[in-house]
Amino acid sequence: MPDDDKGRVVGKVTSVSADRLVVELHRGNDNFTVVGFDDVHYVARLGSFILVPVQAEYVVCEVTGLWEKDPQSNRPDDKGREMDKAASAKFLDLAPLGMIRGGETRKFEFGVSVFPPLYADALYARDEDLDKVFYVEDTSRAVSLKDREGNEHQGTIPVVLEVGTSVVFKGYPVKVKVGEYFGGHSAVLGNTGSGKSCTVASILQSLFERPEEFAARGASFVLFDVNGEYRPAFSKLPEKIQRLYLRANTGDLAEGLEQISEGETVSQFRLPHWFMSVEEWELLLRASERTQQPVLRMALAFSSILAEDGEESLKTRNHINAMSVKECLHGTGGDSPVSKRQKAWMVLNTFGTDDLNASVLSEYNWNPKFGNFPEQGDWERRFIDHLESFIQDDVVFPKYENKPFRFDVLAECLDLALLYQEAHGNRQIRDHCSQMITRFKWVAEREEFSFLRYDPKGLTSEEAAPNTFIEWLIGLSRAGEAVAKSAQITIIDLNDAADEVVEIAAAVIARMVFEKLKRATPRNRYPVHMVLEEAHRYIAQKPTRYAIDASRIFERIAKEGRKYGVFLLAASQRPSELSRTVLSQCSNFVVHRIQNPDDLAHIRQMTPFISENVMKRLPSLPKQHALIFGNAVNIPTTFKVRTVNPAPDSDDTEIGKLWFQPDNFKVGIC
Ligand SMILES: Nc1ncnc2c1ncn2[C@@H]1O[C@H](COP(=O)(O)OP(=O)(O)OP(=O)(O)O)[C@@H](O)[C@H]1O
Ligand SMILES: [Mg+2]
Repeated sequence: MPDDDKGRVVGKVTSVSADRLVVELHRGNDNFTVVGFDDVHYVARLGSFILVPVQAEYVVCEVTGLWEKDPQSNRPDDKGREMDKAASAKFLDLAPLGMIRGGETRKFEFGVSVFPPLYADALYARDEDLDKVFYVEDTSRAVSLKDREGNEHQGTIPVVLEVGTSVVFKGYPVKVKVGEYFGGHSAVLGNTGSGKSCTVASILQSLFERPEEFAARGASFVLFDVNGEYRPAFSKLPEKIQRLYLRANTGDLAEGLEQISEGETVSQFRLPHWFMSVEEWELLLRASERTQQPVLRMALAFSSILAEDGEESLKTRNHINAMSVKECLHGTGGDSPVSKRQKAWMVLNTFGTDDLNASVLSEYNWNPKFGNFPEQGDWERRFIDHLESFIQDDVVFPKYENKPFRFDVLAECLDLALLYQEAHGNRQIRDHCSQMITRFKWVAEREEFSFLRYDPKGLTSEEAAPNTFIEWLIGLSRAGEAVAKSAQITIIDLNDAADEVVEIAAAVIARMVFEKLKRATPRNRYPVHMVLEEAHRYIAQKPTRYAIDASRIFERIAKEGRKYGVFLLAASQRPSELSRTVLSQCSNFVVHRIQNPDDLAHIRQMTPFISENVMKRLPSLPKQHALIFGNAVNIPTTFKVRTVNPAPDSDDTEIGKLWFQPDNFKVGIC
């Protein structure tokens, strides 16, 4: 044993098992205190470290229990007699955590491969050992980057990020490895008010506030800010970190917004409806599987056909129109003959092509005033013969292709799809679809869905195309071949949005981001981190009926996103309600106070490598304190999160101040 180790022996190992060592302290260590060469070491604090040398390496153990035993007594808890404190033996329970390997680098590694023998010496930990364990060296690294023009740029990049300070070793910084933390999915869990949002904001602040280094310009954080609280937290970031603040409100965009800060762009949150996939439409319109979905799919396909100009699509349109008009005139459905004819006219007028439109009716002596054909002359039959010339046998409908169309056009397309189905003998279809149609009308009218309904005429071609829209949203801008970053943080403020809108908007955007990055060549160049507040709402273990599809895309991202550079940072109060698939794919966890036994059990299940002792701390963690574990830190550590400044808009309600007031006291709250 090296000489300097001899000086810091505090006791001997008297019991060894895979998950617990017991050390008997040497007599003379009064009150568990050791006077070392460098300092006074109080070894008997829960959570402090003891090192046990094994050959050239050290097993690092955490103190998990302290007890005394009177030599006169057989049992440590013998209460029948006064304990002889001076003569009593003092013991430490230790949980083995990892090893400091020998050699020049002396690196700490989590996990123990060699256990100490009985009567091995136990040493107190010096500051340099703590440095190894907490990984405080190498905070940044020098790099040389080449740009497109071949110019070299010298600078430094951070290797670790300080997220707070250790609770046990006062003042010791707790750091996460940048590559590991942001190179995987992560979760921030804890009861309401325990500090999750502040932690997320604080981590991002420490990432972006590093003036001495290359800024994290290539980062893209998309925050689904369901409580509308993050904007102030990023208002003081360096100007070069660009923020896009998108607000899903129905009224005046500027209302209630304070000054726009340097580097911030404020805009209304819009998600044109044609960006939605068929499945997302089904989710929005709550289309049931067997009867309603085929009609909806057909209506959406019609919307794409309407947007096409080619010869094939013209033929298909004529076919659909002819089938539907024929059905209107001849069908046996419930409408009166007058309304049937009116509908025929409506179809031709709305969907008509150059070959077959409402004006063709006049060639067959149609009376526009009464909306019918003359009784004499067999005109209706002749017109139907004309219609039949457009009807083809094997029509293959083109698919819905997310082409821009007006929202209200879908109402007409739905009607056309119903007529078309009726023309194929599906007489009950209108009844079966009535719920979906009612829901469509509701979505078409409600203010909270206005962010979806869009007239393509009001948009530039870039705004109307899903690809360019999503590039803008994740902060990419193009100038020819070159791609530049136009924003690092995108906040989607969904505070004013209804619950189901949040689910749908999050699902649509997540899918679009995922598809965009999946198709990108070369892969993995523009990583995107999606920050999901109240994640249990849209990535639930047992989703609500309408959130099923929203959960599906996030589960897919959890499983496959890493390959393409799409990462999730999920914050939730209810880990037990959060999708297991998503949680099990997280490589790092920051866990605040959790008291609910179900949630605790769930975390324990997800993370079998965390010791019982660590878990026991979770219910009693104070605000702003958390346990961090995962591959970005060397050991699971309880720490005080760096104070967030400025804070998100998430202050606790101050009941004391708000309730108790003198008589006739006026406050300026609106
Ligand atoms: N890192 C921190 N720095 C400063 N204050 C903090 C920090 N963490 C927590 N707090 C305090 O705790 C309060 C609650 O924190 P926060 O809003 O982050 O909780 P939360 O877990 O996100 O709650 P909810 O689940 O309701 O959203 C904050 O208003 C702040 O006063
Ligand atoms: Mg919060």
